[in-house]
Amino acid sequence: MRAVDLIQKKREGQELTAAEIRWLVEGYVAGTVPDYQMSAFAMAVYFKGMTTREISDLTMNMVKTGQEFDLSAIDGVKVDKHSTGGVGDKVTLILAPLVASFGVPVAKMSGRGLGHTGGTLDKLEAIKGYQVERSQEDFIRQVQDIGVSVIGQSDQLVKADKLLYALRDVTATVDTIPLIASSVMSKKIAAGADAILLDVTVGEGAFMKTVDEARELAQTMVDLGKAVGRKTVAVITDMSQPLGRAIGNRLEILEAIEILQGKGREDISHFICELAQIMLSLANVEKTVEEVRQHLENGQALDKFEEMVAAQGGDLEDLYRPVKVAHVVDIPAQESGVISALPAMEFGLYAMRLGAGRAVKTDDLDYETGIVFEKKVGDSVQKGEIVAKVYTNGKISPQLVTEFQKYVKINDRVKRLQEIIEIIS
Ligand code: URA
Repeated sequence: MRAVDLIQKKREGQELTAAEIRWLVEGYVAGTVPDYQMSAFAMAVYFKGMTTREISDLTMNMVKTGQEFDLSAIDGVKVDKHSTGGVGDKVTLILAPLVASFGVPVAKMSGRGLGHTGGTLDKLEAIKGYQVERSQEDFIRQVQDIGVSVIGQSDQLVKADKLLYALRDVTATVDTIPLIASSVMSKKIAAGADAILLDVTVGEGAFMKTVDEARELAQTMVDLGKAVGRKTVAVITDMSQPLGRAIGNRLEILEAIEILQGKGREDISHFICELAQIMLSLANVEKTVEEVRQHLENGQALDKFEEMVAAQGGDLEDLYRPVKVAHVVDIPAQESGVISALPAMEFGLYAMRLGAGRAVKTDDLDYETGIVFEKKVGDSVQKGEIVAKVYTNGKISPQLVTEFQKYVKINDRVKRLQEIIEIIS
């Protein structure tokens, strides 16, 4: 076989055979199919798509390029969760201990952020001492002992995705359903959970820009999960504005603690309780959203979070300290009205420029910097009232404020956005 023939076949919109897909994936990981041919192939997929059978073959061949985790030593139904990418997305930090506080084991591997999206791993590393790298034995032992662990994705997991994702990121081929579905589901299948909750984000700050596209991605992934015997549910969630109040690594840890203490904003707290309810139900534990909520209010979820942080070497005193930055800059509203848009992508990039995210993989992060919104879409605001605070260690200039204000849209009236748009199971 020759890679050039497979690229041409896909470029002409034809279906590749199972043997051809296997040859391509194996060759890419072995280094016999070079990056330039794999990028051309990814671009052909971007324009011509893949059939359901091709996506399934691609996913399963990707799974085989790495270690498959065996979580059977942990009792109970293990439920995993994955988001297709967001801004201000600190959901895992709260959801994992919240679900574990009901006795459902959560053994979760998370990734880093790139571009405008943040990664759970970077946020956890903003906790002094927190170890994200654990051996498989330690990871499993911790879940057996305390019911929860969130670690970095093992280098041994789905090597094809590690290589391909980095390539897609620099060749404008990330936002295509066959490649996102195979990337996400190969990792989830290899990570070994019995059931999977997928958070498929949609909107300005997400890879899927319309609900129709998000629905197709969600359905594709749910079908892939079910085909290999994993109970899989997808929720389509709004990512037109940042999630919650904070963007930035330590700022998001502090917001997560606030939510775990039952003091978070109502919208994000409710959203996380709904996700927890679905995860619990996947593990055959039926609870109402109100019952889930009680574990935020009575401290059980926070206790579980602290237990996890301590078990992974995190410093519990440092956990609660406020951020340390050179400047906190207030952003006043330019007019009175109702906040009608806070474009997630723009604020994700703004926070990245403050040092909270990476423009390229090798960039260092400033864990302390970021944004805290005082107002979100649907909130009323008076001219001059503070919409947000910017936490920076950089130079302060009038542009820092004017650029922020440019993205804040204020109108007469607006409908508050619903976090969960649809559930696909
Ligand atoms: N998240 C992933 O893990 N993979 C993608 O391709 C996109 C989002």
